[in-house]
Amino acid sequence: MNGYLNESNFMMVEEGFTTRDLLENLLVELCQASDQQAFFVADLGDIVKKHLRFLKALPRVKPYFPVKCNCSEGVIRLLAELEAGFACTNKAEIARVQSIGVPGDKIFYSSPCKQVAHIKYAASHGVRLLNFDNEVELSKVARSHPGAGLLLGVTADSIPSAHPSATFGTTLKSCRLLLEAAKEQAVEVVGVSFHLGSHGLEPQAFAQSVAAAQLAFEMGTELGYQMHLLDIGGGVPGTEDTRARFEEIAAAINSALDLYFPDGCGVEIIATPGRYYVTSAFTFAASITAREEVPAEQPGSDARRPLCITSAMASTVPSAASCSTAPAPDLGCTSCFISPLQRPSPEHPSHSSSLRGPPGREEDRIADGLELPELQVGEWLIFEDMGAYTIAASSSLGGCPQPHITYAMSRVAW
Ligand SMILES: Cc1ncc(COP(=O)(O)O)c(C=O)c1O
Repeated sequence: MNGYLNESNFMMVEEGFTTRDLLENLLVELCQASDQQAFFVADLGDIVKKHLRFLKALPRVKPYFPVKCNCSEGVIRLLAELEAGFACTNKAEIARVQSIGVPGDKIFYSSPCKQVAHIKYAASHGVRLLNFDNEVELSKVARSHPGAGLLLGVTADSIPSAHPSATFGTTLKSCRLLLEAAKEQAVEVVGVSFHLGSHGLEPQAFAQSVAAAQLAFEMGTELGYQMHLLDIGGGVPGTEDTRARFEEIAAAINSALDLYFPDGCGVEIIATPGRYYVTSAFTFAASITAREEVPAEQPGSDARRPLCITSAMASTVPSAASCSTAPAPDLGCTSCFISPLQRPSPEHPSHSSSLRGPPGREEDRIADGLELPELQVGEWLIFEDMGAYTIAASSSLGGCPQPHITYAMSRVAW
C-alpha cells in the first residue's frame, strides 16, 4: 500500500473529508488554471469498506474482481493488496493485472468467447482457470491449453430473471453432453460457473442457480470428474437504492450454499462482483463544452413546458460504448446522480435539458429530460456513482484523452 504515497494522483485525506469536498477543491484549482478537462475522483476507502463488508456477509466466497468493470490502476492495485482475485476477459486484462504482480493462480479467464491467441497467452502465463459453455470453446481450450482447469458455465434456464440474453451458460440439458465431450478431449473440468446478469437481481434467483449448479456437479462426478470450484458470478448492486440490498442478497446466497454445497463439502466458492466494488467509489466531473437552445414548440419537445430545452455537450463523459461487452453504466436518472454545482433556485429556474457526450459520437446520449438550471459553457456537472463500466480500456475516447483519476483514501481506511 505504501506505493500509493509516492503517486502524484493519490491523496491521503482526513476522516470526514468527503470525495465531494476533494472534488470541489480540485474544481477550484482547475477553474483557476482555466482547465476544462473532465476527471474522476475515486475514494479507495470506499472500496476497502466494500471489501470488508463482502467478506463479512459472504464468509465462504472469494471475490474475483472483473477487470472489464474498472481497469484503473488504483483499483486493480488496491484489490490486489486486499488479496482479491481477478476475472479477465482477454489478454490485455491478464497482462494488466500481471504487470502489477498478480500471480496466474489468482486470475480467472472468464470470457465466454476467447481468441485462440489469448488462450495460448493464458497458458504461457500460468492462468489455468478458464470457463466454457459450448463445444467450440471447449475444443479451442483442448487444443491450445491442455493444462487448463475449466468451469462449465450453466444457466438455470427456467428462471425468468436469469440472464435474458442466454449469453452465459449452457442449459442443464446440454451439460452432460458437454461434460462427455470434455472427457473425450481429456480436458479437466474443475467446477461450475454462472452469472445472473446485472440488473434487478432477485435474491431467490441465486438459490435456483446454485441448485442447478449442484445438479451439474452431480453429472460431473458421475463422469469421474473431481469438481471442487463453484463461481456464482456477479450482479450484486453497488449502491443502496436497489430493490434488494446487498446483505439481503448475501443471506439468500448463504442459505443456498448451505443447502446445496454445505461447509466441508470440499467445494470452494468464488464470485465475480464488479459494480458492487466500484460504483459508489467514483465521482466524475465534466464541463459543458457547447450548448444549444431548442424552442419549446419544436416537434419532440415537451409541450407542457414553456421553457427552452438546453442541449449541452459535456466533455468526455465516459460512454457505455467504450466497454462493448459490459453492461451500460446507469447514466440515466435512476442510479446516477447528476448535479450541477449550482442548484436550481428562483433566480436560476430549471429547464428540461439533454446531455450529449463528445461531438460525433451518436451513441453518447447521456441523458434526456433532465431538470437543470440553465448551464453555460465552462460550468461543471458532477456525476456520482460512476465507478462501474466507465473507464475505457483504450487510451482515448473519440479523440478525447482519458479522464484523469485522482485517488483518495482516509487515514482510517488506510
Ligand atoms: C460473466 C460475468 N461475471 C460478472 C460480471 C460482473 O457483473 P456486475 O458488475 O454486475 O457484478 C459480468 C458483467 O458483465 C459478467 O459478464
